[in-house]
Amino acid sequence: MFNGTAPIGVFDSGLGGMSVAAAIRKRLPDEAILYVADSGFAPYGEKTDAFIKARSRLLAHWLLQRGAKALVVACNTATTHAITQLRGEFAVPVIGVEPGVKPAVQFSKAKVVGVLATAATLRSKRLQELLTHHGQDCRFVCQAGHGLVELIEQGIVAGASVYALLEKALRPMADAGADTLVLGSTHYAFLMPSIARLFGERFQVIETGGAVARRVDDRLTACGLRAQTQSADPALHLYSTAAHTYPLQRLAQALSLTASQVATVSVALS
Ligand code: DGL
Repeated sequence: MFNGTAPIGVFDSGLGGMSVAAAIRKRLPDEAILYVADSGFAPYGEKTDAFIKARSRLLAHWLLQRGAKALVVACNTATTHAITQLRGEFAVPVIGVEPGVKPAVQFSKAKVVGVLATAATLRSKRLQELLTHHGQDCRFVCQAGHGLVELIEQGIVAGASVYALLEKALRPMADAGADTLVLGSTHYAFLMPSIARLFGERFQVIETGGAVARRVDDRLTACGLRAQTQSADPALHLYSTAAHTYPLQRLAQALSLTASQVATVSVALS
């Protein structure tokens, strides 16, 4: 049995899920968080479905072994490929992240929506279902953000290399008349200033961190799992499977998140 003081377990293929962790911390400041960035195995977007499923399962298991009372899959790629399996296997609430196709369609006046996601998310059955379901009177221009996650993992979110990749991915959307852009990877949230610099107000950008934090709040409340005691300083443990934790540490600082611990961990089959 879990008590309210148990942490929320959050994982992503790397640093991207920190955009979700920051939103959770903002909405639920009393909750302890255990975050694991699978940076040693990123990017998931260029891996096989079986690899994404296997890593997601290992990370979920690892977080639960460390006492997580709920799991947040802060990765669109892992959610679209593995969430059904995780929900079937683990008894705790499992909350995922999906590209914000529905709000984008509602927002778009042009009825042309750009979807920037990883190659693995774009080929997933779940995304195809979302596009079919919401696509009656809307056209989608989908592009894989090849190379972007690799740069973000190094802490590079602006500059010539980022601008060139964004230009390549987003220009076809702008040319097709898209007025709304779905950021279908949690990593891409960190590119919003660069997107604005390149495309000005061309796109209304849809990012789902806040919506996921709301859902986490709702699920914990419904399951009686909200932290009961008000702690002034609930733990925020940040782990990475990469050899160096410097990018994770630097990102936490940039997001004004005070980490109780930042460490390298091995999450592997034992
Ligand atoms: N952050 C992940 C997502 O939301 C993907 C990044 C990757 O390719 O590893 O899809």
